Order: sequence, then C-alpha cells, then structure tokens
Amino acid sequence: MAPKSLCLLVATALLAYYVYVPLPESLEDRWRVMLIDATIRTLGHLAGLAEWLGVMHYMDVLKLMSVAEYVPPTSDENVTVTETEFVSVPVRLYVPRERPGGLKRGLVYFHGGGWCIGEAGEALGSAYDYLSRQTSNDLNAVVVSVNYRLAPQHHFPAQFEDVYAVTKFFLRRSVLAQYGVDPARVAVAGDSAGGNLAAAVAQQVRGLSS
Ligand SMILES: *[C@@H]1O[C@H](CO)[C@@H](O)[C@H](O)[C@H]1NC(C)=O
Repeated sequence: MAPKSLCLLVATALLAYYVYVPLPESLEDRWRVMLIDATIRTLGHLAGLAEWLGVMHYMDVLKLMSVAEYVPPTSDENVTVTETEFVSVPVRLYVPRERPGGLKRGLVYFHGGGWCIGEAGEALGSAYDYLSRQTSNDLNAVVVSVNYRLAPQHHFPAQFEDVYAVTKFFLRRSVLAQYGVDPARVAVAGDSAGGNLAAAVAQQVRGLSS
C-alpha cells in the first residue's frame, strides 16, 4: 500500500474513533448528535491548548461559540423579537402577536452555560432563540430572555444580581400592564446554570411578597 493511502486510512480511522460515541439506536439523528458532540469536544481541546499556551482564557475560547451562533433579533408572523435593556441589563424580548381573549402570560428566561457562556440570541447548538420564540408563540407569553453578566470577567453574585433585577423590574405592575401580561401568570425558567438562577430568583421573589 502506498504511504499516502496508508496515512489516509489511519487518519480516517482516527477521525471515526474520535467522532463515534455509542448512542441508543432509538435516538433520532444519531450522527448529528455525534458531530455536535465532537465539535464541542474539539473546541474544549482547543480552549485547553489556548489556555495552556497562555493565549486566551479557556472560557473566552468557549465564548466564541456564542458569538458564532448569534443571530440578530428577527420577528416573524407570530412573534415580535427585539433587544433592549431592563434596568441596564440586556434582554431579548419575544412578544406574541395580539390574540383575542385577555392578558398574556409572562416568562423570564435564563440561559445555561455554567455562568460563563451562553447568549439569548444563540441559534444553533443551544438554540435559545428558537426555544424562546416557540415558547412565546405556543404559550402566548411575553418571554424576557436575559443576557446577564458572565464569569470569569464578572464573579458571583453578578449573574444573580442581573437576573433578579430584571425579574423585579418585569414584575412591576406598570411594566406588566405595558406588555399586557397577567400578573398572576408570570414564571421564571432556565436550563442548567439558568435553572439554578431561576430557583434562586423564585426563592428571593417569594421572600419579597411575604
Ligand atoms: C406561526 O404559528 C403557527 C401556529 O402555531 C405555526 O403553524 C407557524 O409555523 C408559525 N410560524 C413561524 C414562522 O414559526
């Protein structure tokens, strides 16, 4: 065998070994999941290398993923999407189209990413933009997706302070009225680190009213 084809064979085998992860047969799009997983793993390795070389902080490399996945706010026939600030914290707002029959629901959403990465406007892997848009349309809810400050530039409790400040602001009667939201039907939600923030905010807000 020619050295070139031998190299190609070995490289292909190594690539397949790197990408392949055993997944249950029943899972849809197994190869897509493997490719996304391999991409994230690669980014992790590059981030480790960059930090080891002293070029960039590990998390700053991972943050590039949010930058690459960012989509500008785009409205469709169901939901009006805008970016604004609530009490100086950037938020992405999803307002469902007007429907007959009273007030809307409200949802304050906190993305995940280990308090270090993530962005409300991410569209591919994390798909926060898609998730918020669907939630807004399906639940007839005004969704406030919060771009809270991230570590390591901003340490705890900056993340909590931001999401709590936004939630308190949104819960003001005048603000809820402006968006046509029923004060009795507002929720907080999040995934991963955002789930932790949602739990913390829920506990603090409860303390406010009692
Ligand atoms: C708008 O909402 C309808 C009903 O939920 C849905 O069928 C349609 O796909 C939505 N349009 C977009 C662009 O998401």
